[in-house]
Amino acid sequence: MKRACVIGWPIEHSRSPIIHGYWLERYKIDGSYGKVAVTPDAAAGFLASLASNGYVGCNVTVPLKEIAYRSVAERQPSARAVGAVNTVWVEDGRLVGANTDTYGFMTHLTLSAPAWSKVDRPVVIIGAGGAARAIVFGFLEAGVGEIRVVNRTLARAERLVADFGTRVHAYDWSEIGKAIVGAAVVVNTTTVGMKDDGTLGIDWHAVHPACVVSDIVYVPLETGFLRTARQAGLSTVDGLGMLLHQAVPGFEKWFGVRPEVSAELRSRLVADIEGRQC
Ligand code: ATR
Repeated sequence: MKRACVIGWPIEHSRSPIIHGYWLERYKIDGSYGKVAVTPDAAAGFLASLASNGYVGCNVTVPLKEIAYRSVAERQPSARAVGAVNTVWVEDGRLVGANTDTYGFMTHLTLSAPAWSKVDRPVVIIGAGGAARAIVFGFLEAGVGEIRVVNRTLARAERLVADFGTRVHAYDWSEIGKAIVGAAVVVNTTTVGMKDDGTLGIDWHAVHPACVVSDIVYVPLETGFLRTARQAGLSTVDGLGMLLHQAVPGFEKWFGVRPEVSAELRSRLVADIEGRQC
């Protein structure tokens, strides 16, 4: 039996077991996927003995992604770009680490709103943390010519820009209204959407009518940020699809089947979110 798991501290709220458990059942695979609470102090040791403890790999969540980055023997380009690892597998006895948030976000965006890439307009990323880095990397790989990063702490946006090069530009928080003008896509990567008033006070009428608006927060499923954009007539892309799609590459590496993100799987997650709202 192949065993995988998700590690984090705390870990009880993780929805990854629902996703991987669904696929194990759906593809009739003799495998398991559990949750393991691992403290930051114990994370490097846990990963070092992952294979000897019988695991084919694991997911890594907050606050262990940077420790995982340092613990693996080989890093995929997405992990190097973000400086964090969320998916680990064993290959020839060595640990390989990837960051599948880039894949998850870009896949869901392109499936949900394929027209976003047909226009040569800037993309706006709100926030400058690990998730923002994963998404900036995705848009750069997709060939976007100009990416505007708006962050509450300008210095952090400037550090991100220094790491990603001349197609990325930092904007001060007070310039959010200016940054969104003409945007093809606006993505919120901050956690403000988890609060009821998390609209960021954006005047959506200032954006191009074909602008696609996305939030990586998925509890609630429709954040205030997305709701106000939708009410202004814009296309919106929620954060749940990113969560579902980021799980695909790990499952394939561990269990040998490329799984489908089906409507039924999405419904299971929606039911869980509506049931516990955290
Ligand atoms: P992650 O790795 O998941 O992206 P993170 O590294 O903690 O998380 O980054 C969180 C992001 O949300 C940051 O851009 C943060 O802004 P700062 O760099 O100024 O801290 C942003 N953020 C968090 N709370 C915010 C708030 N109330 N208003 C605006 N931005 C906020």
